[in-house]
Amino acid sequence: MSGPLLVLWLHVLGVVGWIGGVLYQAHVLGPAARRVGAEALAEAARRARPITWTAISLVVLTGFYNVTRLGPPAQVLASGAGLLLAGKFMLVLAMVALEAQRDFAQMPRLARALAARDDPGPALGAIAWLDRLVLLLAAVVVYLGLAISRA
Ligand code: HEM
Repeated sequence: MSGPLLVLWLHVLGVVGWIGGVLYQAHVLGPAARRVGAEALAEAARRARPITWTAISLVVLTGFYNVTRLGPPAQVLASGAGLLLAGKFMLVLAMVALEAQRDFAQMPRLARALAARDDPGPALGAIAWLDRLVLLLAAVVVYLGLAISRA
């Protein structure tokens, strides 16, 4: 396996780890938390956090390496890949900011509500919305990644 292919493989594995984790939490653990109690979601999210942020670091680092393999800048711009890449980069920034808000603001808010026996509903609602936004942006970013590869 060549170096660039190995890095692209790691890029895609990182995407699977990050987005797969969000998908599972949003569509399996989230609905279960609203029915049978939020403790399991809070615990699962706490355990998922290092995996998620390792995957995000891997995706971003390998992504920057991938950029260096696209070819001469003039050719990248002429093929349209430069514009796709700029759009992708902005959306990835937004995804990382939303994920940080979820993991470092809303999850602690949920843990505090559970510890104080308050209503976890507002924190669960915010987490559900943040997950939906990350998944929506991920769908667009995956499309842009494939389009960049083929430009
Ligand atoms: C700063 C962050 C990122 C950068 C700079 C980046 C950059 C790139 C580049 C340059 C390619 C083309 C590689 C090639 O054709 O050799 C690529 C492919 C791809 N990227 Fe990213 N990426 C980033 C984050 C992401 C994220 C967050 C996702 C998904 C949510 C993603 C999904 C993909 C996919 C699916 C491919 C296509 C692989 C293929 O066609 O073989 N990337 N990325």
